[in-house]
Amino acid sequence: MYEELEIASSVKKQFDLTGCKVAITGGAGFLGVQFAEAIAEMGGIPILLDFNQELLQKAGERLKASGFTEHKLYEIDITDEANCKDVVGQIINELSRIDVLINSAALTKAGIEDSNADFFAPFEDTDQNLWDAGFKVNLTGTQIMCKLIGSLMLEQRKGSIINIASDVGVISPDQRIYQPDGNGYKGVPFNSPAFYAVSKAGVIHLSKFLATYWAQYNVRVNSISPAGVYRNHEPGFVEKLSAKIPMGRMAQPNEFKGAIAFLASDASSFVTGHNLVIDGGRTVW
Ligand SMILES: NC(=O)c1ccc[n+]([C@@H]2O[C@H](COP(=O)([O-])OP(=O)(O)OC[C@H]3O[C@@H](n4cnc5c(N)ncnc54)[C@H](O)[C@@H]3O)[C@@H](O)[C@H]2O)c1
Repeated sequence: MYEELEIASSVKKQFDLTGCKVAITGGAGFLGVQFAEAIAEMGGIPILLDFNQELLQKAGERLKASGFTEHKLYEIDITDEANCKDVVGQIINELSRIDVLINSAALTKAGIEDSNADFFAPFEDTDQNLWDAGFKVNLTGTQIMCKLIGSLMLEQRKGSIINIASDVGVISPDQRIYQPDGNGYKGVPFNSPAFYAVSKAGVIHLSKFLATYWAQYNVRVNSISPAGVYRNHEPGFVEKLSAKIPMGRMAQPNEFKGAIAFLASDASSFVTGHNLVIDGGRTVW
């Protein structure tokens, strides 16, 4: 067993992803593109999977503009197992293997534009269709992709799966940061819905379950739990949230790239079942 292990002694080589094929669900999203860049910068081939064709094209153009011409784009609906099987089959036909899977797709407000559901309704008024849709994308979609691509990794006797969870999958969101405080802060027209936090807790545990289940096959499964990423939010909200974070600020979108390079590569060859919380200390307080 020890003789078969091929872990480079150089840490630079351990981080190297040259030729590594990395499937990224939600790869056209705000953070998905960052993850794709991280993979490409380390020499890997990002395979962006997303159901938003327009965003996919934009993400492809952005990668090209940065000089990362070796990437692939596939349209997929991760809640539709037959479609996922078809897309994974196409990837294998074209690239012969998938070394790393990053599950970043999640249901956001834009994903329910066609329905009348109120994404930010109070828990007491939960629209059950929205609850189901949230679990279907965030948890079931992640499970489907782990099942299909993890099975291929078992045959390869090597693979790394990184599931993107959230700080609110670890701690309960503090709803007071969204509400008016009576001291001039008017609150914001959004909150952190229950389906989101609970499905992300599920993602963290699915990762732990699969980590031990597949450990003997050298297929590693970890999760990353980011805290809120700054995206031109209202100053009052940023102040409220930052006060909850020991480092006193929200995350920048590129602050997860190092973690992606680490967990995707042999630099983390003995790391499995870990939930890497990247939150400026928020969950420590
Ligand atoms: N941005 C943040 O502040 C933040 C904080 C903590 C955790 N996260 C998590 O990080 C991940 C990425 O977040 P983001 O900000 O890039 O979100 P995003 O909404 O920009 O990207 C999500 C992507 O998933 C795609 N998607 C949704 N449903 C899909 C489906 N059924 N099939 C295929 N693709 C689908 C969307 O088209 C979108 O491109 C998510 O899992 C999110 O929950 C984000």
